[in-house]
Amino acid sequence: MTAPLVDPFHRAISYLRVSVTDRCDFRCVYCMSEHMQFLPKKELLTLEELDRLCSAFIRMGVRKLRITGGEPLVRRDIMTFFHGMTRHLDSGTLDELTLTTNGSQLSRFATDLYSAGVRRVNVSLDTLDDDKFARVTRWGRLPQVLKGIDAAQAAGLRVKLNAVALKGFNEDELLTLTEWCAARDCDLTWIEVMPMGELETEDRLGQYWALSDLRDQLARHYTLTDLPERTGGPARYVRLEETGQKIGFITPLTHNFCESCNRVRVTCTGELYMCLGQEDRADLRAPLRASDHDGPLEDAIRAAIDRKPKGHDFDYSRQRLDGQMPRHMSHTGG
Ligand code: GTP
Ligand code: 5AD
Ligand code: SF4
Repeated sequence: MTAPLVDPFHRAISYLRVSVTDRCDFRCVYCMSEHMQFLPKKELLTLEELDRLCSAFIRMGVRKLRITGGEPLVRRDIMTFFHGMTRHLDSGTLDELTLTTNGSQLSRFATDLYSAGVRRVNVSLDTLDDDKFARVTRWGRLPQVLKGIDAAQAAGLRVKLNAVALKGFNEDELLTLTEWCAARDCDLTWIEVMPMGELETEDRLGQYWALSDLRDQLARHYTLTDLPERTGGPARYVRLEETGQKIGFITPLTHNFCESCNRVRVTCTGELYMCLGQEDRADLRAPLRASDHDGPLEDAIRAAIDRKPKGHDFDYSRQRLDGQMPRHMSHTGG
């Protein structure tokens, strides 16, 4: 292993999120616009380039690798890439290989993912109502995702649901989703909706539901105990004493977690974003393509980590929303 990656604020980078495609079979309203212009295939890193890139980060101290998109499972031959990463799990240089998915393709891929060494998947699911699901994803079909979750669990994968908290949309499902997860032995994490994408065409501020409020509502029905353990991601967890289940909260707005940030993300074209909520980025595709040796790539990664910012600027109150983040969440994979 080469020297580990440490940023100017003494935060070690141990978590890499890699988007393998900008495409998705859904168009969640907070993530994409209805008519997305997708990238030509030649812009994307090839599977071999993705392997080189992830392997370089692993040599530099990354222990957790999360594959994102778009929807990662719509990338052609993506299982070849997963199976390539298995060698890092086998050699003990990687602790976790995982993905965030919309669940639509899980029934097809669950067994194969398990055999590649994946043990846990995060599935984005904001509602258990068919009509609301079709609305929030613009045309997704809920039964297909529920089938995917069943297949994942049957294959031995631990499932965590990611629900984006949306006022006036899934507020009324707080208890239903909690009970559904308890009955299915799924974890559940709530996420504050972040001001990214086409805010001017949506009422994102009106939809914003602070998780402090959600937590208070949950506490009226359950006894909440804060848990010290973390997954390496930004969520903080509580246990519901009555059911024993674990609920996570991701609170970029109400409780900034940047101080303990351990992660960076790479887009499907090889742009390294040092922070989800900042525009500064570094091109890793050029050094990847310039040489078969990884020296230039490693130099580019180190130079970028040296300018990782202290944190994001997401804010629904201080600035005008339309001056915030025009980049869609799908571009960086969350
Ligand atoms: P676990 O390994 O289960 O902890 O997953 P994770 O929370 O790291 O990953 P996931 O892809 O499920 O992300 C859940 C949400 O957290 C998404 O909305 C991400 O955009 C958000 N998220 C992840 N990392 C960051 C971050 O560094 N900053 C901000 N603001 N949000 C993040
Ligand atoms: N705010 C918060 N979470 C978002 N996600 C996508 N867009 C947003 C947003 N604007 C979530 C998805 C997925 C994860 C990767 O990011 O629901 O679970
Ligand atoms: Fe697709 Fe996930 Fe974005 Fe929804 S949140 S459009 S499922 S990438």
